[in-house]
Amino acid sequence: MRRKLVAGNWKMHGTLQKNAVLLSRIAAEAPRLNCEVAVCPPYPYLGQAQLALAGSGVALGAQSVSEHASGAFTGEISAAMLLEFGCHYALVGHSERRALFGETDYVVAAKFEAAQMAGLVPVLCVGETLQEREAGSTISVITRQLSAVLERVGVQALAKAVVAYEPVWAIGTGVTASPAQAQDVHEAIRAQVAALDIGVASELRILYGGSVKPENAKQLFGQRDIDGGLIGGAALMADDFLTICLAAN
Ligand code: PGA
Repeated sequence: MRRKLVAGNWKMHGTLQKNAVLLSRIAAEAPRLNCEVAVCPPYPYLGQAQLALAGSGVALGAQSVSEHASGAFTGEISAAMLLEFGCHYALVGHSERRALFGETDYVVAAKFEAAQMAGLVPVLCVGETLQEREAGSTISVITRQLSAVLERVGVQALAKAVVAYEPVWAIGTGVTASPAQAQDVHEAIRAQVAALDIGVASELRILYGGSVKPENAKQLFGQRDIDGGLIGGAALMADDFLTICLAAN
């Protein structure tokens, strides 16, 4: 049985004061939730979140991670550092990292490996642009992004990882993939993994991300191959985020 996971990706938002309010609401409501919940704040707030969430059962994640273990990499954050601040998850390959910070499939696979070797659970984000969808290449893009990781670390590595399907055209746009559109891609991702290992595929959690809101979460999470969500904008508002978590119950 795959337990649903709802993870909030705060992106570059928050202040100590706003975070304190949001984190205390999430921690207080957590016992009512049957799904697994995680939050991914900006790096400087990980310590704050670690303290605020202690004992709540809510997991902590980072929004990215360096592919390097340590050394002269100004501005980078290693997986070992994230572990010291209580992180369990690290997002890798978010489309904003790919599009705005030049992360290639190769770099994403290296980050996946570095995170996992250190003991973090990577959340591998994949997704096509609108242009790629309109050109009919959605599945080939997703297959390529996933293959880059599978070729580097092997299918067994996915037994300790999460995949998030995030169509780029649905991120932050208010346009959500329909439950059927999302299900089709989730099914294709699971099939690609199943071709290598059926057991790993059947246990793999595949999240949907891209304008998930309280109004559409239930329908999305009701799809056979959708195991929860990666939530951006709606994760910044306690009521919305908690409603989405309840939709995964
Ligand atoms: P969104 O972002 O929910 O604001 O569309 C999702 C994400 O980028 O992870």
